[in-house]
Amino acid sequence: MKGEEEFQAWIAAAEEAVRVAGEALRGGSFAALSEGEHDIKSAADLVANKRIQEILEKTGIPILSEEGGDFDWGLLDTDAVWVVDPLDGTVNFMQGNPLNCVSIALWKRREAVLGVVYDFVRDELYVGGRYKAACCNGELVRVSEQREAGRALLGTGFPSGVAYESAEIREFVESMKRFRKVRLLGSAALSLAWVARGWLDAYTEKGIYFWDVAAGLALVKAAGGYVRWESDSEDPSRGSAYAACSESLFSD
Ligand code: IPD
Ligand code: CA
Repeated sequence: MKGEEEFQAWIAAAEEAVRVAGEALRGGSFAALSEGEHDIKSAADLVANKRIQEILEKTGIPILSEEGGDFDWGLLDTDAVWVVDPLDGTVNFMQGNPLNCVSIALWKRREAVLGVVYDFVRDELYVGGRYKAACCNGELVRVSEQREAGRALLGTGFPSGVAYESAEIREFVESMKRFRKVRLLGSAALSLAWVARGWLDAYTEKGIYFWDVAAGLALVKAAGGYVRWESDSEDPSRGSAYAACSESLFSD
């Protein structure tokens, strides 16, 4: 199989995987396994991860997953790697609120080529990539037409792991001022899917994990938007993600 045909097979595998994981999450009741100050790790993440692994393993492509143990970041430089977040929005999920999703991306040589995000609460499946215009449940979606930050709706996340009184937080607040309104959904992957469909005009987050945004960035690109990922120099699993209907929303 080559090119587009191969790509269609990968879409089918990723779609099956997010649906199977979403099904397990939708009906389940799961225990919290550990709780940090701002984070929860739950049995839900592990159950969904297992379901996804079983399906994606059949493609023979290596998998980088949030729940996969030690990360081999060298895989990002190879010809193809799955990047999986089995449950994005775990804190929301454990609280019973409906802002969470399953997220699977395919990256090739540091380029996002496929993103599949499944909002299992609303049964909305987003898919988009190199040979696939972005769709939600089979209907084409497109980023918004907004070109002015002052009229734009921004999705973001509160920077984790930094002191509330720090210069980073002041900088974060300062950077939000150019936008009309700011929304914190608690799921980076879902925020990016909402940029892809025009419900938000832009999304950015600092110190975010790569698996939280790997699929959403591919989706926004496939929906005609602008995306950028900058890895932290000290920890390549984290970085700053930027996505918008237009690059102008992040430039002066
Ligand atoms: C979290 C979500 C949230 C972001 C956090 C992430 P998780 O991911 O993406 O939007 O603000 O930084 O940790 O833990 O629910 O997969
Ligand atoms: Ca997660």
